[in-house]
Amino acid sequence: MKDQLIIFDTTLRDGEQSPGASMTRDEKLRIARQLERMKVDVIEAGFAAASNGDFEAVRSIAEAIKDSTVCSLARASENDIRRSGEAIRPAARGRIHTFIATSPIHMEKKLRMTPDQVVEQAVKSIAWAREYTDDVEFSAEDAGRSEIDFLVRIFDAVIKAGATTINVPDTVGYNVPEQYAATMRTLIERVPNSDKVIWSVHCHNDLGLAVSNSLAAVMVGARQVECTINGLGERAGNASLEEIVMAVRTRADVFPVETRIDATQIVPASRLVSQVTGYAVQPNKAIVGANAFAHESGIHQDGVLKHRETYEIMRAEDVGWGANKLVLGKHSGRNAFRARLQELGIEVESEEQLNLAFASFKDLADKKHEIFDQDLHALMSDEAITPEIEHYRLVASRFHSETGETPQAELTLSAGGKETRAKATGSGPVDAAFKAIESVAASGSELLLYSVNAITTGTDAQGEVTVRLARDGRIVNGQGADTDIIVASAKAYLNALNKLHAGTEKLNPQV
Ligand code: KIV
Ligand code: ZN
Repeated sequence: MKDQLIIFDTTLRDGEQSPGASMTRDEKLRIARQLERMKVDVIEAGFAAASNGDFEAVRSIAEAIKDSTVCSLARASENDIRRSGEAIRPAARGRIHTFIATSPIHMEKKLRMTPDQVVEQAVKSIAWAREYTDDVEFSAEDAGRSEIDFLVRIFDAVIKAGATTINVPDTVGYNVPEQYAATMRTLIERVPNSDKVIWSVHCHNDLGLAVSNSLAAVMVGARQVECTINGLGERAGNASLEEIVMAVRTRADVFPVETRIDATQIVPASRLVSQVTGYAVQPNKAIVGANAFAHESGIHQDGVLKHRETYEIMRAEDVGWGANKLVLGKHSGRNAFRARLQELGIEVESEEQLNLAFASFKDLADKKHEIFDQDLHALMSDEAITPEIEHYRLVASRFHSETGETPQAELTLSAGGKETRAKATGSGPVDAAFKAIESVAASGSELLLYSVNAITTGTDAQGEVTVRLARDGRIVNGQGADTDIIVASAKAYLNALNKLHAGTEKLNPQV
């Protein structure tokens, strides 16, 4: 019998700290449902004290998710912990994850606290958290650069106070595998009652070592790995879930652990996260990159045709490649449409929303014969279907682009319920469309990213556009999808403006 390795996914919290990756409540819910389908053990749903929106997102996930533990992050302060406690209250299984920095540089320069004060605050925090749940995780932020004697002291104290999981983050991605494993081994040996808690790792990827460091610690006793889909996360990201899970599974001869993960849900999860956040997956990314199972050289192709295992250590279908099956077409009815949305975990909140979505589906089916799961995800992300954040909407458009002529866009926009016309020229029709929108919105925002991807294959595929805008220190991502990529671009720009318009200020937990 192997030990179970707990997979703790923090895509919705640390992943969301990637610039521009902030997600709406509905987007988070959709990802949480996919994580539950994948059988993730713990979903870190957010940082409840960051904003009212974050609180609501954690609470909605706690209400909706039944098969995974739902966790909220909290700084070691009474207010943060009580907000987290309230947010996870509806969960079938809820966890509070509280943290405080323990490295000399963080304690002295950031917290301006003495080590004694840090220990005292950590212990009080565990007691506050235990008022809400007996599943309490403690993280020593920047443990990777902390003194081992101090880590032993603080972990001893928080375990006595009731912490059940002890996390040892390499917050700045500074560690190397042997050293990180040695730290973990020493802690497990020296901390009293270390066998009564789960030891956890949380590694950042600044030196590209997050997965290696995490797995090195698993070899010496860590039994929880904190990771994210596609390795999303603060700066260079976190350890990637798909790499951890498939390393443990593929090298079962080496690792003393197994996970509960349904690996066939990995590629759908990767695509969903990429679609929602606008973070494209690099083609050569392990497991989920478009080329991860492609054999280009003749020698490799020949080998694989003769015997697959000559060049393949995993099977593409085992991680969910090919799962994006043809689902619906022009003649599919409302019930088939509703059923497929349910299978994909896409919640439709009202009959009105379903009617709007079904009308958009029929429009799409007129333009495109085969509708795939990814099309449905894109369609349901369309803000026409989530009207609560909609301030600006594209009503009609006309674009002119001709050799030797200046491209032009003429748009009819609805702004706060009032229709307005706008016209502009630009270096291309997309540029003209954005200028026309700005002539109405005057947002004063800066365009950080514009990217177009084909959602599926074929020239009738929908183009999926991401627009990242920044204003006054806030960064948002807008998405739009359409078979016409100029329309998709205008929708994405308006979606980003709507998020800027609706947005409440958020705190970053580490600040
Ligand atoms: O990187 C880090 O230290 C964190 C903690 C809050 C766990 O994200
Ligand atoms: Zn982190």
